[in-house]
Amino acid sequence: MDKEIREDIPVRELIRWAAEARKKAYAPYSGYMVGAAVLTNELRIYTGCNIENASYAATICAERTAIGKAVSEGRRGFKAIAIVGSPKGEVVSQYSFPCGICRQAMREFSNPKTMVVIVARSEEDYKLYRLEELLPDSFGPDNLR
Ligand code: THU
Repeated sequence: MDKEIREDIPVRELIRWAAEARKKAYAPYSGYMVGAAVLTNELRIYTGCNIENASYAATICAERTAIGKAVSEGRRGFKAIAIVGSPKGEVVSQYSFPCGICRQAMREFSNPKTMVVIVARSEEDYKLYRLEELLPDSFGPDNLR
């Protein structure tokens, strides 16, 4: 799967954009900084960071910031997303997986069998998944047709 994905998806470029977006994270409460970069079907890239709030539940994750930016610019189909997250002030030392709500947000605008989720520590050190692996047996727009 890895080889097949690499030929189709600009993995390193997406990771680079996600790492750059992470620098803009607004995370004064958790100190946990996340960046994401989503690749649309038109091969456009949109980035996002987590945006926390004094009313904690109003926090938005990096993935949904990126997805919201893409959708609000008229993009409704995604091929891949890269995520880079780690505590502030540290070299990125962990693989930061998308939360359940973000997995569902990805599901809304992608085919879970083909959508690629890249969880990265660096451009050389990352894990690749199909969304279906991270969100099996999902509920989606088709259920409501
Ligand atoms: N966070 C994300 O940005 N994406 C995720 O998928 C998991 C969590 C953020 C939200 C919050 O600002 C911080 O990480 C700690 O939960």
